[in-house]
Amino acid sequence: MQKTALSVEEIRQDFPILKRKVGVGGSKTLVYLDNAATTQKPYAVINAMNEYYSNYNANIHRAVHQLGEEATFAYEQTREKVAKFINARSTDEIIFTRNATEAINLVAYSWGRRNIKRADTIVLTEMEHHSNIVPWQILSREKKSKICYLGVDDQGYLKMRDYERALEKEAVRLVSVSEMSNVLGTILPLKEIITRAHEDNVPVFVDAAQSVPHLPVDVQRTDCDFLAFSAHKMLGPTGVGVLYVKKEILEEMPPFIGGGDMIKEVHQQNVIYNDLPYRFEGGTQNIAGVVGFSAALDYLAAIGMDRVRNHELDLTRYALSALSDLKDVIIYGPKNFRDRGGVISFNIADIHPHDLATIMNEHGIAIRSGHHCAQVLMERLDVAATSRASFYIYNTQEEIDLFADALLDARRIFRI
Ligand code: ALA
Repeated sequence: MQKTALSVEEIRQDFPILKRKVGVGGSKTLVYLDNAATTQKPYAVINAMNEYYSNYNANIHRAVHQLGEEATFAYEQTREKVAKFINARSTDEIIFTRNATEAINLVAYSWGRRNIKRADTIVLTEMEHHSNIVPWQILSREKKSKICYLGVDDQGYLKMRDYERALEKEAVRLVSVSEMSNVLGTILPLKEIITRAHEDNVPVFVDAAQSVPHLPVDVQRTDCDFLAFSAHKMLGPTGVGVLYVKKEILEEMPPFIGGGDMIKEVHQQNVIYNDLPYRFEGGTQNIAGVVGFSAALDYLAAIGMDRVRNHELDLTRYALSALSDLKDVIIYGPKNFRDRGGVISFNIADIHPHDLATIMNEHGIAIRSGHHCAQVLMERLDVAATSRASFYIYNTQEEIDLFADALLDARRIFRI
């Protein structure tokens, strides 16, 4: 584990956007606290994509010319880096998709249609993002299967007793959970969830969109069967996602998208599919995006995910304490900062989150407001919306001070 703290000031120099002036009259330096939605990009990522388009733009896996080979090399090298980043056994287990959402849909369509039958149960939690709910609803409607939601307690933790009950009473065929809630920040006891599911031979899908960018993730340690995440939430470009599937499961899965590059041979009436993982990457992929993602993986690996996590723990502890000092603030999710990632959802008295985010914006502070694509959780919390601040490697305690000052201003404006 890397022990030294992050040099945030040095890191900030790598992100051109952090110098931007925004807010009232363009007078405020940007304070970007919407990292759970998407992160900013360092020069290394921007330059890698420019370099690809300027010097070796070509399609992959198809041409023998030099540019085609260079592009293929860069693309496949990224697959190796991804496998290493999450400790997959083999690059055959790594599929590039458009985003985490597409990765979940791929599994729902391909594995789900073959394996989920009438009256089977898919176990989700009340804190899932819509992308880990809607694909399973589409599948369940078709298959007449059921979805069972594990509850969230008042402290924002998963009700593990619901889990035991579901496994005992229902014909559970799949468990699909997010490793870290994009609203509550809660980090789920993944190893425990997976070990218990495997006792009943139930596979587990992990929506890791909020965890892989922020925590060390090791698919062999947790032994998850499926895992999905997005490049854009970890310094990479939009339009690139990753699906990890254990090879023995992937080998049995039918293709999702049919077309070029996912085949070995096509004849009038039959087709021989390509080897893993190409079988699941039909059509020209987001090559430039994958090249940019490669630079993002290098950047994070050079810092070390333990240090990323520790930095966010420091910021989260500091922000939780700053928010708790304010009157009429409701903070959602675990009180213990160690049980959560760098995501803090909150409400202040009856100020509407969109109004609050608008005032923050005038201060040059970007936060997200709304239901955060987690309406099932909003119903559980009995709120229409929350405000949310979320942190990453370039955020500082000074920015959190500015954020707390802006909240005081909001209180003044609303006279509370
Ligand atoms: N899933 C992203 C968020 O939570 C978009 O903001």
